[in-house]
Amino acid sequence: MELKRIAVCVDFSSITPKVVEWAGEEAKRFGARVELIHVIEETIPRLAQEMLEIHTLYDKLKDVTKRRLEDLKEDMVKDYGVEVETRILRGEPFDAILDYLEETSPDLAVVGAHGKKGVKRILLGSTSEKVVRKSPVSVTVIK
Ligand SMILES: Nc1ncnc2c1ncn2[C@@H]1O[C@H](COP(=O)(O)OP(=O)(O)O)[C@@H](O)[C@H]1O
Ligand SMILES: [Mg+2]
Repeated sequence: MELKRIAVCVDFSSITPKVVEWAGEEAKRFGARVELIHVIEETIPRLAQEMLEIHTLYDKLKDVTKRRLEDLKEDMVKDYGVEVETRILRGEPFDAILDYLEETSPDLAVVGAHGKKGVKRILLGSTSEKVVRKSPVSVTVIK
């Protein structure tokens, strides 16, 4: 398998450092480029956001997210010497991730088995479960 582009899904939960470490080592080993992806969840419908001028709140959230992704990127470049790009998506995490994978077809996607809810007794979180089930590309799940 050619491994040139790895899409790494991060939600800034406790598993994120492990996801990033695995992806960094793998990218280094194969000389692959990393795409760090975070989806800002849309809990309020878009139209309501516009009416209530919540978009300013979203813009702030985007700035903070951008900074957090850039920090992760810097660490990865430093620790593994790999090329990293960052992507901020918006919407329902599993939907946005699947659209991204369909549109850009990376060679591999990486997700954590759990995320912010972190219910350890279930096999996979709801986002990773749907990504694994429907992804058009291979997915590595980090436990
Ligand atoms: N908003 C998000 N943006 C990017 N990746 C996400 C997002 N939410 C979840 N993921 C990915 O899915 C993994 C599992 O999260 P999830 O299924 O949401 O578990 P939980 O139900 O514990 O929150 C995360 O470790 C991450 O890789
Ligand atoms: Mg979650």
